[in-house]
Amino acid sequence: MTRHEARELSSHAERFVPEKIDGDFFGKDFISVEQITSRGEVECLFRVAEVMRKSVEARRQRNDLRDKTVVELFYQPSTRTFASFLAAARWLGCQRVVAIPGMGAYSSAVKGESLPDTIRTIEETTAPDLIILRHPVDNSSEEAAFYAQAPVINAGSGKKEHPTQAILDLFTIYQELGKMDGLHVAMLGDLKYGRTVKSLAKLLAIVAKDTKISLVSPEILKMPWDLVRDLRMRGMEVYETENLDEILPAVDVLYVTRVQKEWFEAAGKMALYHKLKGAYEVTPETLKMAKEDMVVMHPFPRVGEIAYEVDSDPRAAYFRQMRNGLYTRMALLALILGKHDG
Ligand code: NCD
Repeated sequence: MTRHEARELSSHAERFVPEKIDGDFFGKDFISVEQITSRGEVECLFRVAEVMRKSVEARRQRNDLRDKTVVELFYQPSTRTFASFLAAARWLGCQRVVAIPGMGAYSSAVKGESLPDTIRTIEETTAPDLIILRHPVDNSSEEAAFYAQAPVINAGSGKKEHPTQAILDLFTIYQELGKMDGLHVAMLGDLKYGRTVKSLAKLLAIVAKDTKISLVSPEILKMPWDLVRDLRMRGMEVYETENLDEILPAVDVLYVTRVQKEWFEAAGKMALYHKLKGAYEVTPETLKMAKEDMVVMHPFPRVGEIAYEVDSDPRAAYFRQMRNGLYTRMALLALILGKHDG
């Protein structure tokens, strides 16, 4: 079923289910990692990302997107995702990038305009080939894709998904450790509100074999039970604990996240936020317990969960991880918008 057929059938934005990738990203939305159906799709993306790395390292301007119009609409703060998508489009030669980082503060959303009306407005005013959206509502990308003619890439939706982050995270794991099977991945911090961990856990469950994940968080910030159930149903071994020391010596990947202040703010629970904020801090001392050949990752921003002294440890992969965001986003744009030119 094409996305346009799906839209006609689903008569309502809430029921919009994005088309599976099924071996080909061309012309498709990328809204959820659940669209990925096979390991091959990720490997294809990684191969193209490697080509992109070579172009960037050689400082070679590409032309894959010369005739395209790409729109970035960000309703929430962003540094890495916004900058890397913008740079990715330009490295690919896109002449017409309409990048609006302040949608939540400066667009007509402030006057009460709905997302469907904004999406239709943007399509009329910019004639886009692709829309990249970051928005605080969980179902925002599905809603945007329902109304848009152009494909939509989800650059972070509420507490639910951040599929392009999951792609760059898995690419980083593969780059750093040389494999994606048989790994013990620990996810640490705010697993309740954080969206990156949810997308990465699901992606690992879909494409990696024999993965064990340890979910380390305070009781109140545990990963939602239905997601944990789904991961187990897909055959993943999932262990939940509050105690990092207990599992750290065995892990291959320590994926650290911040406590998501904005959701505590929205719920008027800032006292609780300040209580939870310091729950974990990874320091050089912490890492003495970890293997020599493991990696520490973080989607960033960090607000105290990883001490600056850790940055010089070769296992600290979080800055390399950011650069991988550029390469994988270039690959994704090139694959969705057409054949990349080698
Ligand atoms: C993350 C996000 O927006 O979900 N940031 C990012 O895209 N790298 C993580 C976060 O904000 O904590």
